[in-house]
Amino acid sequence: MSNWRHKPDSEKELRRLIAPIQAIVKWVKTRRGFVIGVGILKGGTGKSTTVLYLALYFSLVLGLDVVVVDTDDNSQSIARWYAMHKRMGDKIPFKLVVHPSTGPDAISLKKRLRPLREKHDVVIVDLGGGDKETFIDLCAQARLLLMPSAPSGWETDRIQATLQTAASAAILNQEGLSVYNFFTRCDFTSTLAEEEREAMAEDLSDEDEDFVPPPFLDPYFDISKAPHHGRSWNVMPKRGDLEEWGLLVRHAMKGIIEEEDEVA
Ligand SMILES: Nc1ncnc2c1ncn2[C@@H]1O[C@H](COP(=O)(O)OP(=O)(O)OP(=O)(O)O)[C@@H](O)[C@H]1O
Ligand SMILES: [Mg+2]
Repeated sequence: MSNWRHKPDSEKELRRLIAPIQAIVKWVKTRRGFVIGVGILKGGTGKSTTVLYLALYFSLVLGLDVVVVDTDDNSQSIARWYAMHKRMGDKIPFKLVVHPSTGPDAISLKKRLRPLREKHDVVIVDLGGGDKETFIDLCAQARLLLMPSAPSGWETDRIQATLQTAASAAILNQEGLSVYNFFTRCDFTSTLAEEEREAMAEDLSDEDEDFVPPPFLDPYFDISKAPHHGRSWNVMPKRGDLEEWGLLVRHAMKGIIEEEDEVA
């Protein structure tokens, strides 16, 4: 079986693509309240799974103080995962806060995030599939926005609309927002991811003046569909399971850290 994962040619080339762990920890510790949003205006693309693995990576591997904010009024899957694993007696290395956008406890996302940013190193926000208002609020607050999806038109269908919404909402962002797409649930046995990246780069309507070229991370950092991802609802992922997520994070943060160093 051929392996279509685009590997860097050498260790040196790989190091060129990822930030060193110490640089990430230092950057996060000095600024604190690093807000990462995971969102697409579509359900079932792998957002909550991404949130879980990123939260585990930042807390367990990087030793940072992490809080996850579940904004998904419909499924609240990460909140239910958290409650279930607490009941099971699992040690969960990050905190969880629920953000209802309706009802008596509803406050704006900005208000919800303010104290969390002061208290924690990393704040990871899980966006529900359809809540455009919360998505817009998050684009004004986050420093990094990740859009995971499987490599199929059925999954990426709403990404162009999401990118356009993010681009207009990011104007309100005072720190600057870095937005990245990546593919998850890849089996690396076909050219599907490559084909889908090419299809998404084209303005199929050919007349959309707001078309945003999807800002894909390097294909090497796409995430596999290794079985532990599906199993993670019941079984806490192991440290080794976090490795590919670590590379993805280090790659996404390389650009952010360098960008800010240049400005400084
Ligand atoms: N890398 C992966 N490998 C295998 N299965 C995955 C992977 N990522 C996600 N899944 C599976 O895909 C399904 C959808 O994932 P997830 O619940 O994370 O999506 P979501 O975008 O949060 O959905 P919703 O919009 O309903 O909140 C789940 O069954 C999950 O186990
Ligand atoms: Mg979800």
